[in-house]
Amino acid sequence: MLLVGVDFGFPHFDGELEELALLAKTAGMEPVAHLTCKRKAPDAALFVGSGKADEIRMLAQMHGAKEVLFDQSLSPAQQRNLERHLEMPVNDRTLLILEIFAQRARSHEGKLQVELARLQYLSTRLVRRWSHLERQTGGAGVRGGPGEKQIELDRRMIDDAIKRTKERLVKVKRQRSTQRRQRERTAVFNVSLVGYTNAGKSTLFNALVKARAYAADQLFATLDTTTRQMYLEAAGCSVSLSDTVGFIRDLPHGLVAAFQATLQEAVDADLLLHVVDAANPHYPEQIQQVQKVLREIGADEIPQILVFNKLDAVDPEARPGVLKDSYDLEGRQVVRLFLSARNAQGLEVLRTELAERVLEARLTTMSPELDAPLQDTPDDWAQSPGQP
Ligand code: GTP
Repeated sequence: MLLVGVDFGFPHFDGELEELALLAKTAGMEPVAHLTCKRKAPDAALFVGSGKADEIRMLAQMHGAKEVLFDQSLSPAQQRNLERHLEMPVNDRTLLILEIFAQRARSHEGKLQVELARLQYLSTRLVRRWSHLERQTGGAGVRGGPGEKQIELDRRMIDDAIKRTKERLVKVKRQRSTQRRQRERTAVFNVSLVGYTNAGKSTLFNALVKARAYAADQLFATLDTTTRQMYLEAAGCSVSLSDTVGFIRDLPHGLVAAFQATLQEAVDADLLLHVVDAANPHYPEQIQQVQKVLREIGADEIPQILVFNKLDAVDPEARPGVLKDSYDLEGRQVVRLFLSARNAQGLEVLRTELAERVLEARLTTMSPELDAPLQDTPDDWAQSPGQP
């Protein structure tokens, strides 16, 4: 497959299309070449100009690519026109992310959420296709034609499927909120790991709780929230630690809404550990993207610790002299820790910081439950559905 990226002058433009390549590999596809170009605005018909489209076709032929993947979202019309022009399937980043989410979702709830996002995406495409056909079939009041009938039928099927999926989700969510209420009664301090995809959340989660959440150099290796208890010696109690789905720029809108329930752990957390891949040159944009999603799910007011991970992979010349300092996060000063989840450097500093936060929370709430030493592994909330 051939990767194409169009630079509209946004700061996050990934000139080498590295992230798109990693996304494609995660979905099981093999990128053979990539091409980027600059434009002021997208072409309404072909997204890129027709000259560039010809260049894409030539490059695809030269490398034997059977499919083209765009780093930006294409409108249904642009996608269709490009497919006609290039005579091969054309997909975009949104579809790719939906596909990965569909492949990866493991829990019942996760699967239903992704299914809903896919159906909703499909239904908007069909609506637009339909209005396009309607225009083709003639003036006002002229209806009919086989294409329109088929699409109407498809639409009804999709609408039915959306309704059924929503009903099933309501049931699953009800069960989940019962579990959460039980958890709230235990008055545990909740910590959630959030961060850009591939930042190392699962690796850090494993290092902290010595569990085996799936970590891989793939995007979105973890789609469902996993929760475990972590004992903090300095605080003399356990906290609950949750690993959540990774964030990514241009997350398809439906998916943010769909994952709201899965991300509920983050919304309900007392503290967020915002994990950052310190070895990735794009980390400042990635932090911004994570902040954006946190705002969308209503978790941006929760206290954060910025965890700059992969310290071992940072160029030795650029390594910081201290493991803890403070960072200006959109005008808010937050604690920043440098560590390596892989070789455990800096983990103790994080544990100490966490213990301090728990003790502070105890003092401010003076909650009698928090004063009592907490039991290890109450079996009603040890993990999310579908997790081993
Ligand atoms: P998503 O599931 O996509 O959200 O990813 P994640 O944030 O959970 O990342 P994960 O833990 O799966 O790690 C991504 C990759 O980074 C894996 O190849 C890890 O081995 C690697 N990694 C994680 N922590 C470190 C670290 O401290 N140093 C180095 N060098 N690599 C790390």
